[in-house]
Amino acid sequence: MTTDRIRIFDTTLRDGEQSPGCSMSPQQKLVMARALTELGVDIIETGFAASSQSDREALSLIGAELKTPVLATLSRCLPGDIQTSVKALEAAARPRLHVFLSTSPLHREHKLRMSKEQILESVHKHVSLARGYIDDIEFSAEDATRTELDFLTEVTQVAIAAGATTINLPDTVGFTTPEEIRHMFSHVIANAAGADKVIFSAHCHNDLGLAVANSLAAIEGGARQVEGSINGIGERAGNCAIEEIVMALKVRNAFYDLDTGIDTRRIVATSQLLQRLVGMPVQRNKAIVGANAFAHESGIHQHGMLRNRNTYEIMRPEDVGWESSQMVLGRHSGRAAVDARLRALGYWLEEEELALVFEQFKTLCEEQRVVTDIDLQSMMQGGTAHN
Ligand code: KIV
Ligand code: ZN
Repeated sequence: MTTDRIRIFDTTLRDGEQSPGCSMSPQQKLVMARALTELGVDIIETGFAASSQSDREALSLIGAELKTPVLATLSRCLPGDIQTSVKALEAAARPRLHVFLSTSPLHREHKLRMSKEQILESVHKHVSLARGYIDDIEFSAEDATRTELDFLTEVTQVAIAAGATTINLPDTVGFTTPEEIRHMFSHVIANAAGADKVIFSAHCHNDLGLAVANSLAAIEGGARQVEGSINGIGERAGNCAIEEIVMALKVRNAFYDLDTGIDTRRIVATSQLLQRLVGMPVQRNKAIVGANAFAHESGIHQHGMLRNRNTYEIMRPEDVGWESSQMVLGRHSGRAAVDARLRALGYWLEEEELALVFEQFKTLCEEQRVVTDIDLQSMMQGGTAHN
């Protein structure tokens, strides 16, 4: 089933929460889930119900209040896990059970100690069991990108026959490349019986900094659901950052022609809420949500921006929830930017006067990295400027 829409599966509260230092209480998860609902994600993975009372409580709180998004919980291929998850999902208006099992040779041999036949049997048994309770079943073939393609196709086929409605092929350890994952999706989709009846999902980790690029390539290969987290938080180097994949699809819509249901103007607020909740700020140069994402300091860039913002910006800061672009005044700034800032502050200077003020500005830049509005005002009043 390749519909022309990308579903956004948010795993901030599950995979994201698994990243060191990012654990959240049930109440914090509820606050975050409200923001994710307003953002417009399709599916919220609330946790791993069988693993903790806290995750069950979070699902119950979220389910009692939020009726629009599909609420998912993760489950191992174990009858006990599935039953606990099914019970916890009673709280959800639109429940999804997400069962997973590793499929790669490394995981089969060293983690599970299971043969290929045993994997196929377990997938069939547990997906059927889950489907007996709930209609919306996602199956994940953990470490899919390091699994033999033919075996992965077979596993997919068995999961579909057993009743899975979404098939997720994760890049669990962030190992794959765009070319490779595009091929993996198109191969499995072309060869697994029943593939046309389910949604394929990409779940990419960022160990090589390729999670977003790999998710885009998976979409090119036929995936129609992308899993990720806000600010890209997640195991090790994290998951695909939702704000980045969503904006990549939006900015390059002429190429992809695929929409998400995300209200992009809520991105920055959602990112900042998560930063506060888990106490983990994003780096200044983080795409979309970092403080420098729409900041310009160099004279050439500022001059270009003042004439036409498209010269150095590929998207509007307002479209992702920032108030505006920032012209940061510092050592690299030119006279035009200083003049524009002074005008914004109500100072219209003649050429000669501006030249003098610009000299003062340059001197100040030797002492401090950034010159603020207060510094400029102080300068104009003949005072000493300080940050
Ligand atoms: O990275 C992964 O493989 C996972 C699965 C459990 C979906 O998080
Ligand atoms: Zn993961």
